[in-house]
Amino acid sequence: MARVAITHPMIVDAVIHPAELPHLAHRGIAEAVCVVFDILRATSTMVTALEHGVEKIIPAASIEEALLLKQRYPHAVLGGERHGDKIAGFQLGNSPLEYLDQRGATIISTTTNGTIALKACVGASVVLVGAILNLNALIKAINSLSPARLVAVCSGTGHGPALEDVWAAGALVEHFQTARCTDAASIALAVCKSHPNAAEALRASKNGRALQSRDKLKDIEWAERPSVLETIGIMRAGVIRKWERDF
Ligand code: MLT
Repeated sequence: MARVAITHPMIVDAVIHPAELPHLAHRGIAEAVCVVFDILRATSTMVTALEHGVEKIIPAASIEEALLLKQRYPHAVLGGERHGDKIAGFQLGNSPLEYLDQRGATIISTTTNGTIALKACVGASVVLVGAILNLNALIKAINSLSPARLVAVCSGTGHGPALEDVWAAGALVEHFQTARCTDAASIALAVCKSHPNAAEALRASKNGRALQSRDKLKDIEWAERPSVLETIGIMRAGVIRKWERDF
C-alpha cells in the first residue's frame, strides 16, 4: 500500500516568562522557528540597526562575554544596556535611535533580557529577531518556512514577563490561529486582544512607563509602529544578520 504523507498543522507555542528560557530544549525547538521579542528595546533596536545597514550583531549574555568578543573582533562596536543605561566603556546604549548611522558595523550587544533570550534559542531550527516594526515580514517569512512548530519567545524584563513582549507574541499568534495553539500561545493572544493597539500596550507596560519617566518616549514611539520595516534578523551560529530573502 502506498504511504501517504500526513501533514499536521503547525504547533504554535509561546514562551511568556524568562524562567522558561533555560528549558527551551524541552519545547521541541529543534524543529521550530523561534521568533524572539524584546520590544522595549533589544530586538526593536536590532531590527532597526539591520535595516540601517549594520552588517552583523553578536549577542552576548554578559558584559564579560561582550568584552571577550571585542578582543576577537577589535573593530566591533560595543552596545547594550544595564538598568536601561549605556554600559560604562561601551560606545552605544540600547536605543534604536542610536543605530541609524552604524552602516557596515559589527555590533557586540549585551542587554539584560533580550540577548539572553536570543542565546537561549540556540538549537532551534531557525531563530528570527522579532519586533512590532517587522510583524508582517515575520508572518510572510513563517508562511514561507512552513515549520512544524512556531515558538514566540518573550524575553521579559528582569525576572518577570513583559507586557509588550507578550502583546507582540499574541499579535503573531493571531495570524496562525487555525494552527494548534498551546495554552501559552492562547494566553499571549488573549493579552494582545485585551489592548486596542501596540501603542496602548507599550505605554501601559512597566518598561514603557520606566522609559517615559526617563525621558525616552521616543524609543517607545519608534518601537510601537506596526509593520513599517521589511527587515528580519536571522541568527546563525550565534551571529545575527539581515535575512536576505524574498518571500
Ligand atoms: C533588555 O534586553 O532587557 C532590554 O531591551 C532593556 C532596555 O533596553 O531597556
